[in-house]
Amino acid sequence: MKKHNFYAGPAILAPEVKEKASQAALDYQGIGLSLMELSHRGKEFVEILDKTQSHVREILSLSDEYAVLFLTGGASTQFFMTAMNLLDQNETAGYVDTGSWSSKAIKEAKSFGNIEVLASSSDKNYNYIPKAYDIPNNLKYLHLTGNNTIFGTQTKMWPEINCPIVCDMSSDIFSREIPVNKFGLIYAGAQKNVGPAGVTLVIVKKDIVGKIERQIPTMLNYATHIAKNSSFNTPPVFPIYVTMLTMEWIIKNGGAKAMEQRNQRKAETLYNEIDRNELFVGTCNTEDRSPMNATFVLKNENLGTDFLRLCEDAGIVGIKGHKSVGGFRASMYNALEHESVEVLVSIMQEMVKKFG
Ligand SMILES: Cc1ncc(COP(=O)(O)O)c(C=O)c1O
Repeated sequence: MKKHNFYAGPAILAPEVKEKASQAALDYQGIGLSLMELSHRGKEFVEILDKTQSHVREILSLSDEYAVLFLTGGASTQFFMTAMNLLDQNETAGYVDTGSWSSKAIKEAKSFGNIEVLASSSDKNYNYIPKAYDIPNNLKYLHLTGNNTIFGTQTKMWPEINCPIVCDMSSDIFSREIPVNKFGLIYAGAQKNVGPAGVTLVIVKKDIVGKIERQIPTMLNYATHIAKNSSFNTPPVFPIYVTMLTMEWIIKNGGAKAMEQRNQRKAETLYNEIDRNELFVGTCNTEDRSPMNATFVLKNENLGTDFLRLCEDAGIVGIKGHKSVGGFRASMYNALEHESVEVLVSIMQEMVKKFG
């Protein structure tokens, strides 16, 4: 039976990406060796790294001022690596707290300088994005979370400020067009819209690196990875290859703009049903709803098991909400087909026939 993969991450990959990755795992381009058996200094991988970087540049329209890095340690390592590299102990960075991942970023950054939390939506279990807050003009950077995977909200307006934005885009990079020049640094764990877990994409404006006095361990210094083109140590070869395939798939399917349109259409289909269906209710402020992760609950919690059973029977997986929100979460990353959302909607309608 066809599976409809709504997992929040690791998450759905495009079928052709999986096919090509499987082939490369067995025999890369007919050379008789798996890609996993090849040197990261060999011509095959050097070519893959080059292509992956240039595809990322093409999709985001990046200028040469930015470096494209493939690191390890997940977005969670970036929570501290950003502050460790960009903030001196006596300097201040602003953070907006829009969910568990922002809170973790705040906690980690506090070891490296003054952290001012400019706004938080914790008062309403993070069901909205704070908008009216003052931004001091002494900030080294402003940290935002593009998309709040757990709570189902997305930052849609980027403030006009005189410092760079540092942004966690783990769950929405490449899902929409962004004004890239506003960002000093973007980081993303790969396992949603980029590729498999194991590689972290970091896009950094080169001139913001190397401006602080702290001694930074070599592996945690962006300057190391910029100078050595992500190959100071052995990079995650296979996840980078799958990232390259995903980037090719995005470009072939029209780039970030087309992804945005495709994602908007899926989100509209699902949110329309959540709003018109008498059994379900959305958990977030309408204008802040994320097209990537839709969070919703059943008005009658007792029907949860029935809903999950119907979903399972229809091949729908990964629909259970995060424990801090409860209910359900449908993650609709780039590779998810509109058809999968239609199947979910049909199950929600079946629930009304049975229990409405
Ligand atoms: C927005 C966001 N930031 C950070 C993380 C943590 O990423 P990682 O597991 O790669 O450290 C996640 C994981 O789901 C996430 O969704």
